[in-house]
Amino acid sequence: MPRTSLLLPLLLTSLLGCRPSQARLTVSPSSSQFFEGDFVTLICEEDDSSAGWTLRRNTSRDTRAECGDHNQEWGEPTGSCCNISYIDPMDSGVYWSESREGPISNMVNLTVTGGSVILQSPVLPVMEGDDVTLLCKTKNSSNLPAAFYKDGVFIRKAATGHMTIQHVSRSDEGLYKCDISGHGESPSSWITVTEKPTTPAPPAPTSRPGLPAVLAFGSVCVLFLLVLLVLLMRDCVCRKLEADQEAGEDAITDDTTYSDIKIAQEPQQPVREARETPSKPEVIYSSVKKFTRPTTDDQAIRPECI
Ligand SMILES: *[C@@H]1O[C@H](CO)[C@@H](O)[C@H](O)[C@H]1NC(C)=O
Ligand SMILES: *[C@@H]1O[C@H](CO)[C@@H](O)[C@H](O)[C@H]1NC(C)=O
Ligand SMILES: *[C@@H]1O[C@H](CO)[C@@H](O)[C@H](O)[C@H]1NC(C)=O
Ligand SMILES: *[C@@H]1O[C@H](CO)[C@@H](O)[C@H](O)[C@H]1NC(C)=O
Repeated sequence: MPRTSLLLPLLLTSLLGCRPSQARLTVSPSSSQFFEGDFVTLICEEDDSSAGWTLRRNTSRDTRAECGDHNQEWGEPTGSCCNISYIDPMDSGVYWSESREGPISNMVNLTVTGGSVILQSPVLPVMEGDDVTLLCKTKNSSNLPAAFYKDGVFIRKAATGHMTIQHVSRSDEGLYKCDISGHGESPSSWITVTEKPTTPAPPAPTSRPGLPAVLAFGSVCVLFLLVLLVLLMRDCVCRKLEADQEAGEDAITDDTTYSDIKIAQEPQQPVREARETPSKPEVIYSSVKKFTRPTTDDQAIRPECI
């Protein structure tokens, strides 16, 4: 019986250790367009800080360039962030973070303009049914009258530069821009609308590893668990043989074995009292659920650069 209580932490660590790490890349201020000279922070919210990620980008100037790499000369890394203290039109491009195993985050498109108008649109894909607010602004003012366009077609004028699309659907997906008369036109940005998941507990929608990666990790997990199982079974058989031998030799050692069992079971007593059920497999399953939950919950945006 004490063997089972040993199996539980082993099972948990193997499950947690085998899961591929994921991350979400966001931007502060939250916008996909910036004025030349803005201070921009890219934030990598990873679920496993030991994974060793790097932030990379493709621009017209460089490909797969790493934040803080002195050969690339872009970005200052601080913990989980990368700062661009004076963003330039040449910094326009796609940004992502990756580990040694490959990409681990969503991609973010940034557009930097030397002009005087930007469209502030969501950086990450928006969920079907959500409300989305677009803001058309100049460097100095964010409440001037503005005109909004989708895929090159005029859609609406907004007196104060704000346009809200209520309950977005897949048909709202497209390339948006805006115009403030007397100041000019913003660059265009793509807005992606993702399907609302039907299951109550969806995985993180923005940071999904590729199927091959999941399969690879899955098979490693299965292999590891099999080896673990074989080792434990062998151990069990050895213990049983040992115990049988000892029982045959001496009655006193038999007694000490019983007291050992009592001590090892102690940590599980609260669970047993609460449930009134001594079924061991049930205890293991409920614990596994508890441990996996925080890893899928990456809703909260962490603005600090830990
Ligand atoms: C970045 O550029 C490299 C080289 O051109 C290319 O292989 C890669 O797919 C690009 N990555 C993204 C995310 O665009
Ligand atoms: C990067 O920006 C964050 C705030 O956005 C700040 O806390 C951090 O000190 C900055 N790091 C550097 C190296 O400038
Ligand atoms: C980034 O921009 C390119 C070209 O405009 C577009 O095809 C791609 O879907 C965009 N990616 C994201 C994540 O918005
Ligand atoms: C912004 O305001 C400053 C002074 O407050 C002014 O000199 C500048 O021309 C303005 N820029 C625009 C684009 O309106």
